[in-house]
Amino acid sequence: MSTEQQPVPDGWATCSRPIALVTGASRGIGLAVARDLARDHHVLVGGTNRETVEAVVAEMDTVESRQAWPFVADLTDRDALVGTLDALGLTRLDVLVHSAGIAEYGPIADSDPAMWQRTFDLNVFAVAELTRLVLPMLRRSKGQVVLINSGAGHNASPNSGVYAASKFALRALGDSLRAEEREQVRVCSIHPGRVDTDMQRELQASLGNDDYRGEKYVRPETIAAAVRLAVDAAPQAMVEEVIVRPVIAG
Ligand SMILES: NC(=O)c1ccc[n+]([C@@H]2O[C@H](COP(=O)([O-])OP(=O)(O)OC[C@H]3O[C@@H](n4cnc5c(N)ncnc54)[C@H](OP(=O)(O)O)[C@@H]3O)[C@@H](O)[C@H]2O)c1
Repeated sequence: MSTEQQPVPDGWATCSRPIALVTGASRGIGLAVARDLARDHHVLVGGTNRETVEAVVAEMDTVESRQAWPFVADLTDRDALVGTLDALGLTRLDVLVHSAGIAEYGPIADSDPAMWQRTFDLNVFAVAELTRLVLPMLRRSKGQVVLINSGAGHNASPNSGVYAASKFALRALGDSLRAEEREQVRVCSIHPGRVDTDMQRELQASLGNDDYRGEKYVRPETIAAAVRLAVDAAPQAMVEEVIVRPVIAG
Protein backbone atom coordinates (compact mmCIF):
# COMPACT_ATOMS: atom_id res chain seq x y z
CA MET A 1 0.00 0.00 0.00
CA SER A 2 1.31 3.50 -0.76
CA THR A 3 2.45 5.94 1.90
CA GLU A 4 -0.50 8.23 1.05
CA GLN A 5 -3.95 7.76 2.53
CA GLN A 6 -6.01 5.73 0.03
CA PRO A 7 -9.82 5.97 -0.34
CA VAL A 8 -11.84 3.26 1.39
CA PRO A 9 -12.77 0.28 -0.82
CA ASP A 10 -15.69 0.93 -3.20
CA GLY A 11 -18.00 -1.71 -1.77
CA TRP A 12 -17.94 -0.45 1.82
CA ALA A 13 -20.56 2.30 1.50
CA THR A 14 -23.22 -0.03 0.08
CA CYS A 15 -22.36 -3.16 2.06
CA SER A 16 -24.67 -4.16 4.94
CA ARG A 17 -21.63 -4.43 7.24
CA PRO A 18 -21.40 -1.29 9.44
CA ILE A 19 -18.27 0.89 9.32
CA ALA A 20 -16.35 1.73 12.51
CA LEU A 21 -13.47 4.17 12.98
CA VAL A 22 -11.28 3.39 15.99
CA THR A 23 -8.58 5.88 16.97
CA GLY A 24 -5.51 4.63 18.83
CA ALA A 25 -6.11 1.20 17.29
CA SER A 26 -2.45 0.39 16.71
CA ARG A 27 -1.90 -0.65 20.35
CA GLY A 28 -3.51 -1.27 23.70
CA ILE A 29 -7.22 -0.76 24.26
CA GLY A 30 -7.93 0.58 20.75
CA LEU A 31 -6.28 -2.47 19.17
CA ALA A 32 -8.46 -4.82 21.24
CA VAL A 33 -11.58 -2.81 20.30
CA ALA A 34 -10.67 -2.84 16.60
CA ARG A 35 -10.04 -6.60 16.66
CA ASP A 36 -13.37 -7.23 18.32
CA LEU A 37 -15.36 -4.94 16.01
CA ALA A 38 -13.68 -6.45 12.92
CA ARG A 39 -15.73 -9.61 13.55
CA ASP A 40 -18.78 -7.89 12.04
CA HIS A 41 -17.76 -4.35 11.03
CA HIS A 42 -15.48 -2.80 8.45
CA VAL A 43 -12.87 -1.10 10.62
CA LEU A 44 -10.76 1.99 10.02
CA VAL A 45 -7.62 1.43 12.10
CA GLY A 46 -6.28 4.68 13.57
CA GLY A 47 -2.69 5.42 14.55
CA THR A 48 0.27 7.64 13.72
CA ASN A 49 2.71 4.97 12.56
CA ARG A 50 1.78 3.69 9.08
CA GLU A 51 3.79 0.49 9.33
CA THR A 52 2.16 -0.54 12.63
CA VAL A 53 -1.31 0.40 11.42
CA GLU A 54 -0.88 -1.55 8.17
CA ALA A 55 0.25 -4.63 10.12
CA VAL A 56 -3.00 -4.45 12.16
CA VAL A 57 -5.04 -4.02 8.96
CA ALA A 58 -3.32 -7.01 7.34
CA GLU A 59 -4.17 -9.16 10.37
CA MET A 60 -7.90 -8.37 9.96
CA ASP A 61 -8.24 -8.73 6.20
CA THR A 62 -9.34 -12.06 4.81
CA VAL A 63 -8.31 -13.50 1.46
CA GLU A 64 -11.77 -12.71 0.07
CA SER A 65 -12.25 -9.17 1.29
CA ARG A 66 -10.79 -6.11 2.91
CA GLN A 67 -12.34 -5.88 6.39
CA ALA A 68 -10.05 -3.12 7.63
CA TRP A 69 -8.37 0.00 6.28
CA PRO A 70 -5.66 2.35 7.63
CA PHE A 71 -6.49 5.73 9.12
CA VAL A 72 -3.04 7.26 9.63
CA ALA A 73 -2.96 10.76 11.10
CA ASP A 74 -1.59 12.68 14.04
CA LEU A 75 -4.97 13.69 15.45
CA THR A 76 -3.48 16.81 17.02
CA ASP A 77 -2.55 18.11 13.55
CA ARG A 78 -5.86 19.46 12.23
CA ASP A 79 -4.64 19.78 8.63
CA ALA A 80 -3.44 16.15 8.67
CA LEU A 81 -6.75 15.03 10.17
CA VAL A 82 -8.87 16.85 7.58
CA GLY A 83 -6.56 15.74 4.75
CA THR A 84 -6.78 12.10 5.82
CA LEU A 85 -10.57 12.22 6.13
CA ASP A 86 -10.88 13.86 2.70
CA ALA A 87 -8.59 11.28 1.11
CA LEU A 88 -10.62 8.43 2.64
CA GLY A 89 -13.75 9.66 0.85
CA LEU A 90 -16.00 8.17 3.52
CA THR A 91 -19.71 8.61 2.84
CA ARG A 92 -20.93 6.49 5.73
CA LEU A 93 -19.89 5.90 9.34
CA ASP A 94 -21.75 3.89 11.97
CA VAL A 95 -19.40 3.76 14.98
CA LEU A 96 -16.67 6.14 16.17
CA VAL A 97 -14.47 4.93 19.04
CA HIS A 98 -12.04 7.47 20.50
CA SER A 99 -9.25 5.52 22.18
CA ALA A 100 -6.14 7.57 21.27
CA GLY A 101 -4.90 9.32 24.37
CA ILE A 102 -1.83 10.27 26.35
CA ALA A 103 -1.14 10.41 30.07
CA GLU A 104 1.54 12.52 31.68
CA TYR A 105 1.83 12.67 35.44
CA GLY A 106 3.28 15.07 37.97
CA PRO A 107 2.23 17.65 40.54
CA ILE A 108 0.41 20.74 39.34
CA ALA A 109 3.40 22.74 40.61
CA ASP A 110 5.56 21.14 37.89
CA SER A 111 2.97 20.99 35.08
CA ASP A 112 4.02 23.58 32.53
CA PRO A 113 1.77 25.00 29.79
CA ALA A 114 3.26 22.66 27.17
CA MET A 115 2.18 19.61 29.21
CA TRP A 116 -1.37 20.97 29.58
CA GLN A 117 -1.44 21.76 25.87
CA ARG A 118 -0.18 18.31 24.69
CA THR A 119 -2.67 16.52 26.90
CA PHE A 120 -5.70 18.60 26.00
CA ASP A 121 -4.73 18.66 22.29
CA LEU A 122 -5.13 14.88 22.03
CA ASN A 123 -7.46 13.88 24.87
CA VAL A 124 -10.03 16.63 24.33
CA PHE A 125 -9.59 18.96 21.34
CA ALA A 126 -8.86 16.19 18.79
CA VAL A 127 -11.84 14.20 20.06
CA ALA A 128 -14.11 17.23 19.68
CA GLU A 129 -12.87 18.03 16.19
CA LEU A 130 -12.94 14.50 14.76
CA THR A 131 -16.44 14.03 16.19
CA ARG A 132 -17.59 17.33 14.68
CA LEU A 133 -16.19 16.43 11.25
CA VAL A 134 -17.96 13.04 11.01
CA LEU A 135 -21.15 13.90 12.93
CA PRO A 136 -23.30 14.32 9.77
CA MET A 137 -22.46 10.74 8.76
CA LEU A 138 -23.16 9.43 12.27
CA ARG A 139 -26.53 11.20 12.30
CA ARG A 140 -27.49 9.67 8.94
CA SER A 141 -26.67 6.16 10.17
CA LYS A 142 -28.14 6.74 13.66
CA GLY A 143 -24.68 5.80 14.79
CA GLN A 144 -22.72 5.76 18.00
CA VAL A 145 -19.76 7.56 19.60
CA VAL A 146 -17.76 5.68 22.24
CA LEU A 147 -15.33 7.68 24.37
CA ILE A 148 -12.59 5.76 26.15
CA ASN A 149 -12.39 7.91 29.24
CA SER A 150 -10.83 6.78 32.56
CA GLY A 151 -11.43 6.44 36.28
CA ALA A 152 -9.60 9.78 36.26
CA GLY A 153 -12.65 11.22 34.48
CA HIS A 154 -14.47 10.89 37.82
CA ASN A 155 -11.74 11.19 40.46
CA ALA A 156 -8.62 13.34 40.48
CA SER A 157 -5.72 12.29 42.69
CA PRO A 158 -2.30 13.80 43.44
CA ASN A 159 0.03 13.86 40.42
CA SER A 160 -2.78 13.16 37.95
CA GLY A 161 -4.17 16.69 37.74
CA VAL A 162 -3.47 17.37 34.06
CA TYR A 163 -4.61 13.94 32.87
CA ALA A 164 -7.68 13.97 35.14
CA ALA A 165 -8.62 17.48 34.01
CA SER A 166 -8.55 16.30 30.39
CA LYS A 167 -10.71 13.28 31.23
CA PHE A 168 -13.19 15.41 33.26
CA ALA A 169 -13.41 17.63 30.16
CA LEU A 170 -13.91 14.55 27.97
CA ARG A 171 -16.79 13.43 30.22
CA ALA A 172 -18.38 16.87 29.88
CA LEU A 173 -17.95 16.70 26.11
CA GLY A 174 -19.67 13.31 26.06
CA ASP A 175 -22.52 14.39 28.36
CA SER A 176 -23.28 17.46 26.23
CA LEU A 177 -23.03 15.54 22.97
CA ARG A 178 -25.37 12.83 24.29
CA ALA A 179 -27.97 15.39 25.30
CA GLU A 180 -27.67 17.37 22.04
CA GLU A 181 -27.80 14.35 19.72
CA ARG A 182 -30.38 12.29 21.61
CA GLU A 183 -32.49 10.21 19.19
CA GLN A 184 -29.86 10.74 16.48
CA VAL A 185 -26.49 9.57 17.78
CA ARG A 186 -25.86 7.45 20.88
CA VAL A 187 -22.92 8.40 23.10
CA CYS A 188 -21.20 6.11 25.58
CA SER A 189 -18.39 6.96 28.03
CA ILE A 190 -16.27 4.05 29.18
CA HIS A 191 -14.19 4.57 32.33
CA PRO A 192 -11.48 1.94 32.74
CA GLY A 193 -9.30 1.63 35.81
CA ARG A 194 -5.78 0.33 35.24
CA VAL A 195 -5.46 -1.66 32.02
CA ASP A 196 -2.47 -3.77 30.96
CA THR A 197 -1.11 -1.65 28.07
CA ASP A 198 2.00 0.36 27.16
CA MET A 199 0.43 3.38 28.90
CA GLN A 200 0.16 1.49 32.20
CA ARG A 201 3.71 0.10 31.84
CA GLU A 202 5.01 3.64 31.38
CA LEU A 203 3.01 4.91 34.37
CA GLN A 204 4.28 2.13 36.64
CA ALA A 205 7.86 2.73 35.47
CA SER A 206 7.51 6.43 36.21
CA LEU A 207 6.30 5.54 39.73
CA GLY A 208 9.45 3.46 40.23
CA ASN A 209 7.61 0.13 40.06
CA ASP A 210 10.18 -2.21 38.50
CA ASP A 211 8.05 -5.31 39.08
CA TYR A 212 5.31 -4.74 36.47
CA ARG A 213 2.75 -7.53 36.56
CA GLY A 214 0.16 -7.03 33.83
CA GLU A 215 -2.06 -9.80 35.18
CA LYS A 216 -3.05 -7.50 38.11
CA TYR A 217 -4.76 -5.13 35.71
CA VAL A 218 -7.83 -5.22 33.48
CA ARG A 219 -7.18 -6.80 30.07
CA PRO A 220 -7.70 -4.61 26.98
CA GLU A 221 -10.14 -7.27 25.70
CA THR A 222 -12.37 -6.59 28.72
CA ILE A 223 -12.66 -2.94 27.68
CA ALA A 224 -13.41 -4.12 24.14
CA ALA A 225 -16.27 -6.17 25.60
CA ALA A 226 -17.65 -3.00 27.24
CA VAL A 227 -17.50 -1.21 23.87
CA ARG A 228 -19.30 -4.17 22.33
CA LEU A 229 -22.06 -3.87 24.97
CA ALA A 230 -22.68 -0.28 23.84
CA VAL A 231 -22.41 -1.00 20.12
CA ASP A 232 -24.75 -4.01 20.25
CA ALA A 233 -27.42 -2.34 22.42
CA ALA A 234 -30.90 -2.55 20.91
CA PRO A 235 -31.78 0.58 18.85
CA GLN A 236 -34.16 1.89 21.53
CA ALA A 237 -31.48 1.57 24.28
CA MET A 238 -28.31 3.54 25.00
CA VAL A 239 -25.46 2.39 27.23
CA GLU A 240 -24.45 5.79 28.57
CA GLU A 241 -21.58 4.95 30.90
CA VAL A 242 -19.57 1.89 31.90
CA ILE A 243 -17.00 1.74 34.73
CA VAL A 244 -14.56 -1.20 34.66
CA ARG A 245 -11.99 -1.47 37.45
CA PRO A 246 -9.41 -4.11 38.42
CA VAL A 247 -10.43 -6.40 41.29
CA ILE A 248 -7.00 -5.93 42.92
CA ALA A 249 -6.54 -2.47 44.43
CA GLY A 250 -3.36 -0.45 43.87
N1 LIG B 1 -4.05 1.83 30.09
C1 LIG B 1 -4.78 2.25 31.11
O1 LIG B 1 -4.53 1.86 32.26
C2 LIG B 1 -5.93 3.20 30.89
C3 LIG B 1 -6.81 3.40 31.96
C4 LIG B 1 -7.89 4.26 31.79
C5 LIG B 1 -8.07 4.90 30.59
N2 LIG B 1 -7.19 4.69 29.56
C6 LIG B 1 -7.45 5.42 28.31
O2 LIG B 1 -7.61 4.48 27.27
C7 LIG B 1 -7.16 5.04 26.04
C8 LIG B 1 -6.18 4.09 25.37
O3 LIG B 1 -5.08 3.90 26.26
P1 LIG B 1 -3.99 2.74 26.03
O4 LIG B 1 -3.58 2.30 27.37
O5 LIG B 1 -4.49 1.77 25.04
O6 LIG B 1 -2.79 3.63 25.41
P2 LIG B 1 -1.47 3.19 24.62
O7 LIG B 1 -1.23 1.73 24.73
O8 LIG B 1 -0.42 4.15 25.05
O9 LIG B 1 -1.87 3.50 23.07
C9 LIG B 1 -2.11 4.83 22.69
C10 LIG B 1 -2.70 4.86 21.31
O10 LIG B 1 -2.97 6.24 20.99
C11 LIG B 1 -2.40 6.55 19.72
N3 LIG B 1 -1.95 7.93 19.68
C12 LIG B 1 -1.10 8.55 20.54
N4 LIG B 1 -0.88 9.82 20.16
C13 LIG B 1 -1.62 10.00 19.02
C14 LIG B 1 -1.82 11.11 18.15
N5 LIG B 1 -1.23 12.30 18.37
N6 LIG B 1 -2.63 10.95 17.08
C15 LIG B 1 -3.22 9.76 16.85
N7 LIG B 1 -3.09 8.69 17.64
C16 LIG B 1 -2.29 8.81 18.71
C17 LIG B 1 -1.22 5.59 19.58
O11 LIG B 1 -0.93 5.42 18.20
P3 LIG B 1 0.59 5.28 17.66
O12 LIG B 1 1.27 4.27 18.50
O13 LIG B 1 0.43 4.88 16.24
O14 LIG B 1 1.17 6.67 17.81
C18 LIG B 1 -1.77 4.32 20.23
O15 LIG B 1 -2.52 3.57 19.30
C19 LIG B 1 -6.57 6.41 26.38
O16 LIG B 1 -7.50 7.41 26.08
C20 LIG B 1 -6.32 6.33 27.88
O17 LIG B 1 -6.38 7.59 28.49
C21 LIG B 1 -6.13 3.85 29.68
